[in-house]
Amino acid sequence: MSEVIEVSGDWLALREAEDARARSRVLAETTAGLLPAGPISVHDLGSGTGSMMRWLAPILPGPQTWTLHDWNAELTARAAEGAPPRDRRGEAVSIRTRTGELERLEAHDLAGASLVTASALLDVLTEAELRAIVGACVAVGAPSLLALSVTGEVELRPADPLDARISRLFNAHQQRGVDGRELLGPKAPTLVARLFARAGWRVERVRTEWRLDAGDPRLLEAWLDGWVEAAAEQSAAGTGAGRDPDLHREAAGYRRLRSAQSRRGDLSAAVAHVDLLAVPR
Ligand SMILES: C[S@@+](CC[C@H](N)C(=O)[O-])C[C@H]1O[C@@H](n2cnc3c(N)ncnc32)[C@H](O)[C@@H]1O
Repeated sequence: MSEVIEVSGDWLALREAEDARARSRVLAETTAGLLPAGPISVHDLGSGTGSMMRWLAPILPGPQTWTLHDWNAELTARAAEGAPPRDRRGEAVSIRTRTGELERLEAHDLAGASLVTASALLDVLTEAELRAIVGACVAVGAPSLLALSVTGEVELRPADPLDARISRLFNAHQQRGVDGRELLGPKAPTLVARLFARAGWRVERVRTEWRLDAGDPRLLEAWLDGWVEAAAEQSAAGTGAGRDPDLHREAAGYRRLRSAQSRRGDLSAAVAHVDLLAVPR
């Protein structure tokens, strides 16, 4: 098994409210309209602590059983803590968990699925993992709602001359090799749409967006830390277009400036994402 890239539960908790605000409610309602009235089975891939389930369950018909797939069992265990979310009739959903690597996902892992979901997942996957997911979804024929994949576009206000360089390096970092795995980063949404289309499925896309500002300074600062640190790491380690050694030196000053703007409530960032709904024709 590849080495698990640790995602912290605290980071997932910090971003949960903004994820919920950002996901496309329209696409979720369209998804709900595709499902049978009766019991439904939803498989959430790369579920983490269950943020997608908590957001989507109240929009979907019930009774619902959610199967949460992740390679990090500590995160999925947290999904079962506390009161389960409720479906749109107000009934509690049932929750199961599955620990495993998505590259090995097969149709039988999704057997009986009425719907497959994922959120904030595709850009941290490899092409082999994406192909395995699409292959399994197509084999079971369940609509697939894949929310919040980053597209690589970021706009900060006020703008700064370093923004574009940091953005380019961050996007290169998103496509780095980790433990022999080549991550897709912002290429993932286009590839997944192409794979579903090749299988004859219809793909609907809605542009979604994280809007970070003084309303949630902790999230803005945490995102900024991750964005600048990844770019600085890439600037020294990258090759070809991903290399920019001077940026490493300039990053600390940039970070201080952005932090001061954030503390004054003067900084905002729009981080572009896309939500996709793939449906068999
Ligand atoms: C950015 S987190 C998103 C979690 C959750 N969907 C949410 O929106 O809060 C990505 C999740 O995918 C899981 N993950 C990443 N790559 C994986 C893989 N190859 N196999 C299984 N799980 C994976 C991580 O452990 C993590 O929980």
